[in-house]
Amino acid sequence: MVTSQVQSTFSNNTVYPMKVVNNITDLRQTINEWRLQGLKIAFVPTMGNLHAGHISLVTEAHKHADKVVASIFVNPMQFGANEDIDNYPRTIESDQAKLIDAETDLLFTPTPEIIYPKGLDKQTYVEVPNVSDGYCGESRPGHFRGVSTVVCKLFNLVQPDVACFGLKDYQQVQVIETMVEDLSMPIDIIPVETVREASGLALSSRNGYLTEEELKVAPALSQNIQWLAEQIKNNTDFIGLARTAANYIDNAGLKTDYIHVCHARTLQPASEDDKEIVILAAAFCGKARLIDNLRVSL
Ligand code: PAF
Repeated sequence: MVTSQVQSTFSNNTVYPMKVVNNITDLRQTINEWRLQGLKIAFVPTMGNLHAGHISLVTEAHKHADKVVASIFVNPMQFGANEDIDNYPRTIESDQAKLIDAETDLLFTPTPEIIYPKGLDKQTYVEVPNVSDGYCGESRPGHFRGVSTVVCKLFNLVQPDVACFGLKDYQQVQVIETMVEDLSMPIDIIPVETVREASGLALSSRNGYLTEEELKVAPALSQNIQWLAEQIKNNTDFIGLARTAANYIDNAGLKTDYIHVCHARTLQPASEDDKEIVILAAAFCGKARLIDNLRVSL
């Protein structure tokens, strides 16, 4: 078992301590101490390789609680057989430094053996029907089962009052919100706006896979989602317009995986009468599969 305290000295000479815990006993002990003091706890689960989007989740978390817990766990259950978990970027030292700067109180860094002691095959899982099914759920079979299972388990370990998730992963946020509602978990889910490059490209750990050339064409995804959002304000041929947007994305040098106009909560294909819409899209840019979305009120 390893529990350590890392700290950062700020320019005004104040020192900020962050506890780093990699086992369940020490995690629970700290959480219990905070609970006994009546403190409110916010949680930011991550898979590491942190960027400004993750840090915005920690910043938001501070607004809702007295203590902020983050986790870094590259969850094997949410990777498909054809997805290279071994090459997923692991940058624990710089991640820790960023979390300290963001005044995170506790970082939980479990191993797969701690989260799945019986192995993945024998692990109880959580599956959220309907919202998990299409889009990324279709392109990455089993992905959302892995996400909902690990988030459920992490929620049980951390027992937060609130948890923050980035809206770049819009479908994931709907899956988590549905799980929390269906299983009566007493946790407020706080969706946090996507952080973007000046080009409009949504920040993502996957952007690290992009070459300089690919970085130039990658913004075509968000640009064409924007284009589609403008079009659907005056035209209800959602399917035809989405097909045109997919062609534009492909012509820019990406390969569209999907682009759909959906009901913002159910994620079903939008109908003419729907007022709250989300455009969901994914496209390959070289080796990287990028996802993005935009909400539109009609
Ligand atoms: O969004 C992510 O980084 C992951 O899907 C999450 C929520 C940390 C679960 O592993």
